[in-house]
Amino acid sequence: VSVFLNAGGRNQTAPLLYGWMHEDISHSGDGGIYGEALVNRAFQGSGATIGALPGVPGSSVVSSENPILPWGPVITGWQGIGSVDLSLTLLHPLSDALRVALQVDIPFNATGEVGILNEGWWGMDVRPGTYNASFYILSDKPRNNGSLSHIDLSLRSNLTSDIWATTSIPFSNGTNISSFEWTQYSAQLENTVRAPNSNNTFAITFDASEVAGNTYYFDLVSLFPETFHDRPNGIRRDLGQAIVDLGTKVLRFPGGNNLEGYSIEQRWKWNETIGPLRYRRGRVGDWGYTNTNGLGLMEYLQFCEDGGIEPVLAVYAGYSLDIWGQDGVSFPEDRMGDVLQDILNELEFVTGDISTPYGALRASYGHPEPFSLNYVEIGNEDWFSSTYPYRFPILYNGIKQAYPNITLISTAYNENANYNISIPAGGMWDTHHYEEPSFFLESFDYWDNWQEATNNEGVTIFVGEYSVFQIDTPDGVVNFSMPLGEHIFFPTLMAAIGEGVYLLGAERNPNVVKMSSYAPSLLNLNWQNWTPDLVAFTADYDQTVLSASYYMEQMFALHRGAETLPVTTVQGTFDPLWWVATAEQGDGVVYFKVINSGNSSVPLTVDFDRTFSAVNGTILTHPDLGAFNYLDNATAVSPAPITNLPAIAAGQTAFTWAVPAWSINVLEFEMG
Ligand code: AHR
Repeated sequence: VSVFLNAGGRNQTAPLLYGWMHEDISHSGDGGIYGEALVNRAFQGSGATIGALPGVPGSSVVSSENPILPWGPVITGWQGIGSVDLSLTLLHPLSDALRVALQVDIPFNATGEVGILNEGWWGMDVRPGTYNASFYILSDKPRNNGSLSHIDLSLRSNLTSDIWATTSIPFSNGTNISSFEWTQYSAQLENTVRAPNSNNTFAITFDASEVAGNTYYFDLVSLFPETFHDRPNGIRRDLGQAIVDLGTKVLRFPGGNNLEGYSIEQRWKWNETIGPLRYRRGRVGDWGYTNTNGLGLMEYLQFCEDGGIEPVLAVYAGYSLDIWGQDGVSFPEDRMGDVLQDILNELEFVTGDISTPYGALRASYGHPEPFSLNYVEIGNEDWFSSTYPYRFPILYNGIKQAYPNITLISTAYNENANYNISIPAGGMWDTHHYEEPSFFLESFDYWDNWQEATNNEGVTIFVGEYSVFQIDTPDGVVNFSMPLGEHIFFPTLMAAIGEGVYLLGAERNPNVVKMSSYAPSLLNLNWQNWTPDLVAFTADYDQTVLSASYYMEQMFALHRGAETLPVTTVQGTFDPLWWVATAEQGDGVVYFKVINSGNSSVPLTVDFDRTFSAVNGTILTHPDLGAFNYLDNATAVSPAPITNLPAIAAGQTAFTWAVPAWSINVLEFEMG
């Protein structure tokens, strides 16, 4: 293949092209990016734990199915220390939202250390740093004469007698825990050690000689390690960093299906995800487990602000899924005004200044400045619903009227919906593709002239969910029951190549494709709702696995360039080589991204209309097209410098190299 790059006729690249999609699926929110280290902190229920994950000490696996658990309080994740009895009670609600408390009965004959411990989200990472602990406690009127001198908090091993860090909350002589009202106590644990594994616990303990015969109630027990940008109630630091490190420019949240709910009542209600945690009820998420809503609207927006990421806020659009797999349920047309009003309230909360009621509410929760919000997505995958044709225009027009500068994104378009709906110019369409590799290769030119060909002048695209979901099959139909042998559980090199070709097609159409994000993004290896995912993780920060697809996207995102360069094909055609060229502003650097989807190397010549003085390259490849990254081989498919690039002489304008089989490459030319 031989191509010619020249300087003229450029387009700007899409500045937000590479992004991230987040919803709480596969415990990627609670037990994932939400920094809370304790499972079931307010006894709202959590996932059951069955069995152990191979290679992950102390882990447990639920199921790769979509488990539907009963909504209800459980003690999962908690154990007593010493001879205490644990039970749940409704007698002393912490708030209308958190009505269940843990009752800890300490027998009269108790001796030594007594208390409770929490096992974390299938374990707990313990490493040097500050841990912020807090809990609400209430006492029954003490039945003995003792009085409390201290309560101890500690991080400890669940396997050995090691105690990694400890602190005490002192009580002056004669005081006791209130028996009239809940009191919140908090303390910091300064930890200096790295525990050898994540099988650790957080314990709250008493000296039995001071409390034997007493009963204590606990609720909203919380432990935060240091978070991304040190935010209280913030994001797990390493996972937040992984999102930013990809080069993420845009974040879509909070769903996905998890926005919609398995009934109208169970939808993600923005106003129940804000304010003090004590008043956040939580909900049964769409992926079969409790969402505490600790990771709420403001936490997402704060993360975007800290990470320099543009938020795409998906708003509830009056349609919920159905838990039993039947058609979903929609607000009737004459009730859509309620849905619109709720969205307008939400947008005022996000963007209103403090003179507005919801802006003032946001300010009272610690963010007086309005958040920046330029993109709102109306619903999720509404091609499943026959009611979008009346819901979309009502919401589109109503939001547009109040917020003319916000770009609105439709989730359904004629192509894959059963009805006709048009997206006004200036709007966007969110497409979703879970497909086979050949679909993506064949879609390389899908966006070429798309607006003209489809009569969508002025409409642009957010490729909001995509992944190579299974290998190529004879009928090309994706099987969501994920049969062994066909389904891709962890992104393989083959998947990254297919997705990469599709993304190159997006990159060379910056007037059409403005954003993209792989989905789902994060997988807690202890709870698999959906595979494949971009990043897999456990409680142990050192076990986070970045996939081949992550690395491909990162290579592209970090070398997006400011402008596309026209490329003339002198000899050969696309397939098996696929390419796009971009330049940084000022012309100092040209990026040539090239993928070889074939099984043998292909000679490539790139001729420039100018001289270049150096070339560097990064390659993602592996001898096995099915290779993937996993716990025991986390960097099997990871980027490496290209070591066999030709030496460059002064005044050179032509570059020749053989592109290795099954490889994704970014060549970086220093011009001049
Ligand atoms: O990404 C997983 C799910 O796939 C999303 O929740 C939904 O939008 C899509 O069907």
